Amino acid sequence: MMVARRRGPEEDQMAQDDFKSVVKVEIDDGVAWVTLNRPDKRNAMNPALNRRMLEVLDEVEANDDVGVMVLTGAGDAFAAGMDLKEYFRESEARGRPATLKARRDAYEWQWRRLMYFEKATIAMVNGWCFGGAFTPLVSCDLSIAAEEATFGVSEVNWGIIPGGNVTRAIAAKMRQSDALYYIMTGLPFDGRKACEMGLVNEAVPLADLRTRTRELADILLAKNPMVLKAAKDAYKRVRDLHWESSEEYLVVKQNELNFLDKTAGRTKGMKQFLDDKTFKPGLGAYKK
Ligand code: COA
Repeated sequence: MMVARRRGPEEDQMAQDDFKSVVKVEIDDGVAWVTLNRPDKRNAMNPALNRRMLEVLDEVEANDDVGVMVLTGAGDAFAAGMDLKEYFRESEARGRPATLKARRDAYEWQWRRLMYFEKATIAMVNGWCFGGAFTPLVSCDLSIAAEEATFGVSEVNWGIIPGGNVTRAIAAKMRQSDALYYIMTGLPFDGRKACEMGLVNEAVPLADLRTRTRELADILLAKNPMVLKAAKDAYKRVRDLHWESSEEYLVVKQNELNFLDKTAGRTKGMKQFLDDKTFKPGLGAYKK
């Protein structure tokens, strides 16, 4: 009878390192650069990458040295969507529980965690961006694309609808005529067009992408981080509320912020403008 050999600690460590390598994290002066790292598969999101992203988000969120997280991809892709082989075919071959688990992990980070992430987030679209990649793209607060990047709601091309909340993400950012055009034709478009349609904030030449993203991150880093978090959550929460509930939510949110912000940012900001006359709120942030 064959006895299965148990893995030794070195092999366990190598397996763990392999698992961790699907997402690269570099912390540099307040910014966490989180890179989807399966360039030979165009960073297609497989179950391992989705599981690892859940861990990475926890790690980055808990890191006090980080004020802004940038999400990008290694090589010439941001992400070629969900991994057709590992996420769809192989999970489904393992049965419904495996399919559901893969789906939960993907959905959990690609929009739920990302949408209300504790730090400000920027998607830096450096190249191919297809299908499932639209969900994390839209769930980041801000986005900058390379003009040369190629986007596509390509699901229709291989016989599915844009699930994984891609359709919802598109509906949040694109007007109906553009959304249906790209959902139904599956035609690719470039970074300039993505910006023109409001899918991303800016499009810049690929050569300038990282520098421009850093500039934007630095603008955010100069702000009070608790205010940034409250402000982005407020926008994302109230856009679907009625005016009455929205008004109340915003009053309560500000009261919560007054209580939670131990730096008393609001008082400081007022003092620096009204008494010290050291800054103008219309033109920049108060000195933290
Ligand atoms: N799922 C699984 N594997 C993928 C993938 C995906 N979404 N996207 C790319 N890959 C794999 C390819 O199968 C290939 O694997 P192999 O080297 O083992 O053959 C490898 O990544 C490189 O892809 P390739 O197609 O050779 O690269 P390319 O640079 O010529 O083309 C794309 C890049 C992104 C245009 C092309 O890979 C593609 O169309 N991918 C699918 C995009 C998509 O529609 N995603 C939506 C999913 S919902």
